[in-house]
Amino acid sequence: MGARDLYLVTGGAGFIGSHIVEALVRRGERVRVLDNLITGRHENLAHLIHEIEFIEGDISDYETTRKAIDGVKIVFHEAAIPSVPRSVDEPKLNHEANINGTFTVLLAARDAAVRRLVYAASSSAYGERGTGAKLEDQLPSPLSPYAVAKLVGEYYCQVFTRVYGLETVALRYFNVFGPRQDPSSPYSGVISKFITALLSGQSPVIFGDGEQSRDFTYVANVVDANLRAAVEPGAIGQVINLGLNQRITLNQVLAELQKIIGTDLTPRYESPRVGDIRHSLADITRAERLLGYRPSVGLTEGLRYTVEWYRENRG
Ligand SMILES: NC(=O)c1ccc[n+]([C@@H]2O[C@H](COP(=O)([O-])OP(=O)(O)OC[C@H]3O[C@@H](n4cnc5c(N)ncnc54)[C@H](O)[C@@H]3O)[C@@H](O)[C@H]2O)c1
Repeated sequence: MGARDLYLVTGGAGFIGSHIVEALVRRGERVRVLDNLITGRHENLAHLIHEIEFIEGDISDYETTRKAIDGVKIVFHEAAIPSVPRSVDEPKLNHEANINGTFTVLLAARDAAVRRLVYAASSSAYGERGTGAKLEDQLPSPLSPYAVAKLVGEYYCQVFTRVYGLETVALRYFNVFGPRQDPSSPYSGVISKFITALLSGQSPVIFGDGEQSRDFTYVANVVDANLRAAVEPGAIGQVINLGLNQRITLNQVLAELQKIIGTDLTPRYESPRVGDIRHSLADITRAERLLGYRPSVGLTEGLRYTVEWYRENRG
């Protein structure tokens, strides 16, 4: 990457997007953000706001996106409404942001002769495929409107590479966690909800029996993989899993957090949520091979950093 190339991060005011923005700024790159703040927050970029260009707007609007993408060499496309249960409650909103939005970003990227677009895909595309590690070549089996939308985005990425020569890479994130993940909505990621409940002395809620398992990945690993995906030639047109390759149940992750925080609260178990997957584990061989990806932050270390952040930034 050239020293002063221009980067666009869609969804840059969100959790993962703001970490990508931060990493780019730290490297001295020029960064533009396009975000409509539907789930993102100004506060996520407050410490960087004088070093970036921020455009408030919707990715589904072609004119807005075309303007935001002008002169950009690389796009990190993070904007989406990132929730399985919200997509079940609001399928139209999910379709508009996650399918029409991604299509519009791809179209604008093609028209603006962007070099490469790295897309935030999702492990939800796999659906229920046994308890083993998920491999990219397995047939997808989406179980929610959200999973369908993220999968359609992947297909569009691949087609834009084949048909229009736009370099794309789809990174299938497994469950990502870390500082700045918003715990405040019923649709928020489970680790952010567990931590904020424990820190305020409340019983955390578990949907189902807590024996469902996830491959939780600290956000710094995801940022690192994105930066690699922006340049690695072997990644073009590929779908690549991004996780830690470590299985942990929700009961276990809660126990780990209670140890770190020093609490012993009994969780409240509620009915399982429609659209949720039982087990999710990433095979990361392809990411290792094509991106040189090695997760540098382990689960416990990541949980500690995250707890520390919520302690300092609560409220
Ligand atoms: N967090 C995870 O565990 C996870 C897992 C798999 C995939 N992903 C994907 O990673 C990306 C980032 O997720 P996140 O966890 O940081 O979520 P987030 O909600 O914090 O960030 C998403 C950002 O996109 C913005 N946005 C949404 N719709 C928009 C629109 N129409 N126009 C402009 N901006 C819009 C939001 O305001 C927000 O700032 C998403 O594409 C999500 O689907 C996340």
